[in-house]
Parts: sequence; C-alpha cells; structure tokens
Amino acid sequence: MSDLTTCYAGLKLRNPLIVGSSVLTDSAEKNAAWDEVGCGAIVLPSLFEEQIELESKRIMKKEKIGDGSQLVWNFVKSTRIMNYLDLIRGSKNSCSIPIIASIHCYSDGGWIEFAAQIESAGADALELNISAIEANPEVDPMESAVRYISIVQKIKSVVGIPVIVKASKLFNNIPWLVNRLKQEGADAVVLFNKLYPADIDIDLMKATSGPILSHPEDVSDTLRWICLTASRVPGVDLAASTGVHSWQDVVKCILVGASAVQIVSALYPENGKEFVPDTLSRISEWMKSKDFISIDRMKGLFHIDKQVDVALFERAQFMKYFTNFH
Ligand SMILES: Cc1cc2nc3c(=O)[nH]c(=O)nc-3n(C[C@H](O)[C@H](O)[C@H](O)COP(=O)(O)O)c2cc1C
Repeated sequence: MSDLTTCYAGLKLRNPLIVGSSVLTDSAEKNAAWDEVGCGAIVLPSLFEEQIELESKRIMKKEKIGDGSQLVWNFVKSTRIMNYLDLIRGSKNSCSIPIIASIHCYSDGGWIEFAAQIESAGADALELNISAIEANPEVDPMESAVRYISIVQKIKSVVGIPVIVKASKLFNNIPWLVNRLKQEGADAVVLFNKLYPADIDIDLMKATSGPILSHPEDVSDTLRWICLTASRVPGVDLAASTGVHSWQDVVKCILVGASAVQIVSALYPENGKEFVPDTLSRISEWMKSKDFISIDRMKGLFHIDKQVDVALFERAQFMKYFTNFH
C-alpha cells in the first residue's frame, strides 16, 4: 500500500479523505463507523449562529415571553452548545481520527465565545463556514473579504487549535483571499462551501430549493481554484470540497495541490461505507502504477506557473474549446 498520509492544518491524517460537515457526522456512532471504514478525519455539522437565534425567538413566542429575553437566549444558547460539546466529546471518545468542529457564521459577534468551549471539549481543529454573501448595491464588495479577515483575527485570539476557513467561490480573486487569511493565521482553507441551490416552483409560483447534493460536474470550479491558489499561496493547506464524487476526483484534487479532500454528496445515500475503502484502495493502486510512493510526491504536480497571465490563459482555453465545438 502506498503512503497515503497527509498533513492538513497542522494535523497528521492517515489519508486525505475527510467526511465533510453534514448530517452524516451528527452522532458519535456515525463517526465511529466513518473511522472504522478508514476516513482520515471528520468535520462535524455546523453550529449555526442563526439557529440559536431563531430557536430562542420561537420559544419566546410560544411561551409569550416579552421580557427576560436574555434569559431565554442564554438558555437556548447553552443547551445548543451543551449538545454540541457532547457531540465533540462523544466523537473523540469513539474515534481515533481527528474531529474537526464547525461553526457556520456571518459575523464576528457573540458566537466567538463558543470557540474556546469547543477547544476545551477536545476538538482537534475548528472549521469556520463563513457566509458573507453581499447583495446590497451600496456596499463595497471588499466588505465581505474584510468580514472574513475580522472573523479569523478574532477567533485566532481565543483558540490555540488550528483554524480552517471554508470559503465561498463568490470572490473574484480567491488566491488574494486565501493569502490574507493565511496572513491572519488561518491554518487551512476549504475551497468551497456550497450555496443553497435556489430554484422556482412554477406550478406553486414560489421560491424553492434545487437539489441539495452536488453533481460530479461541480468539481471543475474546485479544481480550477485549488490549482490557481496552491502554487501562488504556499504555506497554507487547502482542502477540496464540492463535487468530489470518485477516486479519480480525489487524485485530481491532490494533483492540483489539495492536502485533503472533503466529501459529502458521494457518501449518500447508502454507498458511503463502501466508497471510502474502495476509493483508498483505487488511489493506492493508481499511485503504484504511476510510481508515486506518497501523497506528498504527487501533491501540486499540476500547477499554473506564477508567471502565467491567468486571464489570458482562461481566454485562450475558452477559444480553444468553445470555438471548435460543433
Ligand atoms: C445534507 C447536508 C448537510 C450539510 N450541512 C452542512 C453544515 O452543517 N455545515 C457546512 O459547513 N456544510 C454543510 N453541508 C455542505 C457540505 O459540507 C459540503 O460543503 C457540500 O455538500 C459540498 O460538498 P459535496 O460536493 O461533497 O457534497 C451540508 C451538505 C449536505 C448535503
């Protein structure tokens, strides 16, 4: 078997396959099973800033509580957090692989205090899924980036565990963002988080959701931006996320510079348990056939040189592939 170990955000993983944040990782029992089938690490479902707020408002409405709202807020917050800390502790007790906690946030506000508790409960790292979508025509696009940076600055001042940022692809210059996050102390960046798939039901005439799971074609953006970022921003680990559906996708992600690969959709509905060992052995066979003795040897072999004019390169590829398609 080839050496599949990899370093990611300061953690040594036995292989690059990470089960991404989702309901697939919402219990210690499920996580023990992922450990058993050979995953390299697990990201827990996110603790949502909004969930806590909504739940406290619902309780206040139901119980007709007008004042004392701070009390309810504190109660909801502490129950939510207790459950989450229990999930971290339970998963740590039943797994041998790193457990990465996750917070889904949009501001650098009250939730920052949760982070220290997450660290005390034993999480090996903290992933921040930062939702910084801006659609206000009056707001400078740079404000989203500033929000990312400010969140990382604040979180780094309260925790010592590695901090990972799960970023959105809605930035014009991803390498710039990754570089700034690195300068603020981010230990790794996940490219990318997933937007809710907006759709319209034209019978009911209402807004609805498209498919929740990704498609294999979605890996293209992930590959492009890992490739453009990895060689230009050394010194920060990247994890590929979105659209990884096969062992070949995992190989491609590593070839363009990812240190680890997060997978969710491909593990649904029931094929996850076979997917992991099968993927690991296929990667291992492929590495042997290409004489790669370790993940490190193949990581980043496909890169776009720093000197290349990316805009020109993209235009040239567009002309090459689109103008010859009939
Ligand atoms: C059912 C479901 C629940 C998810 N929950 C979370 C979550 O709590 N936090 C988060 O950061 N991402 C969450 N995600 C997004 C995934 O972690 C991942 O970024 C996304 O599915 C793209 O990866 P994939 O192509 O491997 O599915 C969820 C995805 C699914 C399908």
